[in-house]
Amino acid sequence: MGIWSDLTAHNAAKSGRRILSLFDNPDRAADFSRRVDGLLFDFSKTQIDAGALSLLLELARAARVETRRDAMFAGERINDTEDRAVLHTVLRAPGGSVRVDGVDVVPGILETRARMAAFAEAVRSGAITGAGGAYTDVVNIGIGGSDLGPAMATLALAPYHDGPRLHYVSNVDGAHINDALQGLDPKTTLVIVASKTFTTIETMTNAETARAWMAAEVAEPASQFVALSSATDKTAAFGIDPARVFGFEDWVGGRYSLWGPIGLGLMLAIGPAQFAEFLSGGHAMDTHFREADMADNLPVLLALVGIWHNQVQGHATRAVLPYDQRLSRLPAYLQQLEMESNGKRVAMDGSDLQRDSGPIVWGEPGTNGQHAFYQLIHQGTRIVPCEFLAAAEGHEPGLAHHHRLLLANCLAQSEALMRGRSLDEARALMSDKGLSGDELERQARHRVFPGNRPSTTLMYRKLTPFVLGQIIALYEHRVFVEGVILGINSFDQWGVELGKELAKALEPVLAGDADGGDKDGSTRQLVAFAQSFRSA
Ligand code: F6P
Repeated sequence: MGIWSDLTAHNAAKSGRRILSLFDNPDRAADFSRRVDGLLFDFSKTQIDAGALSLLLELARAARVETRRDAMFAGERINDTEDRAVLHTVLRAPGGSVRVDGVDVVPGILETRARMAAFAEAVRSGAITGAGGAYTDVVNIGIGGSDLGPAMATLALAPYHDGPRLHYVSNVDGAHINDALQGLDPKTTLVIVASKTFTTIETMTNAETARAWMAAEVAEPASQFVALSSATDKTAAFGIDPARVFGFEDWVGGRYSLWGPIGLGLMLAIGPAQFAEFLSGGHAMDTHFREADMADNLPVLLALVGIWHNQVQGHATRAVLPYDQRLSRLPAYLQQLEMESNGKRVAMDGSDLQRDSGPIVWGEPGTNGQHAFYQLIHQGTRIVPCEFLAAAEGHEPGLAHHHRLLLANCLAQSEALMRGRSLDEARALMSDKGLSGDELERQARHRVFPGNRPSTTLMYRKLTPFVLGQIIALYEHRVFVEGVILGINSFDQWGVELGKELAKALEPVLAGDADGGDKDGSTRQLVAFAQSFRSA
């Protein structure tokens, strides 16, 4: 309680201060940024000063972040509402030993990784083919963690693609699979059914549709299917050869599963060697998280900046703004990672959370967002802490001028958010345009930027597989640290269940096979409206 109220008091005491004034200290930028293995995290354009940082670090210590972190890496059952260990980090480990219930789980992970690599090589080389020859296309059917991670990473690493084309289908809306299959040849298409549970209704519905599509042209459609799942009984019932099933344990949460079998699509696209680079980047971040002092620890610092903005300053949302077109699915990926992990109103011990849960995460790549929602970020009444990401270099040497412009825009936005434009500066602009009197005053007021809006920037040299691995593991651990500080179990997701149950009950009502009499008036009205078009 004490540290939280000290933080609130510290924030209140500095409420009128301009962030820009903090740069009167010539060491501000260096003191409030950290460089780790080629990454630069700059949080100097925030209101966090030495006093705030030391209180935030005290908060992390009081929450025993390091003890909880060590418990996670040691395989303790820290996901205690599901009684599970949390060991996605082992999926990217080069070796070592971690015991769950006395059994070393690392050999099994390495064996599955080797099987995946052998399979990926065989598909990529044409040693394994479809009915019509070498596979040209792969359709990954999955949703949530079985889609967002691999889809985001496959797009992010497009310059490294040298395998079959990857397509991701997630939505149960028939439009998604219909459009994805357009133009594909069933005889040279491999279908991956990615579902940890192999029960998710969207995925199973899409998988059956894909099987029917393939059966029209391929005598043994199941031979062109692969499953990424823990539920081997269900994959067998679907008819998938056990040799084509890549499983993982219940201690890998869906939204943390990209590093193992769920990453098979990415591995097919970029090859096992580049996939190994991706894992190495994630592992390097694990090592940093485990070993660096908290004051220099990137995941801890990202978490503390997040806590400062969300729970201390009360800013409900966080914009993730990658100035990197290939990271355009990063905000969607982070929405699941952060909001499914820390969007909870009950603490580990079952009591009500004392503070706000994790932030609302949203965003779009720059510069596109600038021409859409940045108006509100600059001049709206609410403050949106912004998190910029940018590469120093692009992958297109012939288009270096594009990249310079991209970067200039990124840096300009964080500068503009902090600096703003005063009323006097706006008046001078209007006067230069020849305005005077009331009209000058009126027009000037529209052109004021209050500024003093916080942002952080994460920079890296280039978006390589290694760097992507670092970034994703960084965000995973950030979510973990925020969860520990808030007292949340970041690894369950009970909040997704109720809607699933109600949808199951509503489907027969919509089909006219069940009575929806127990539903509320609004739901009955919506059902009736949808049904009114059925026979039309
Ligand atoms: O509905 C939420 C969820 O359980 C996510 O946590 C998970 O990533 C997604 O559904 C997909 O689950 P599965 O991989 O079991 O199909």
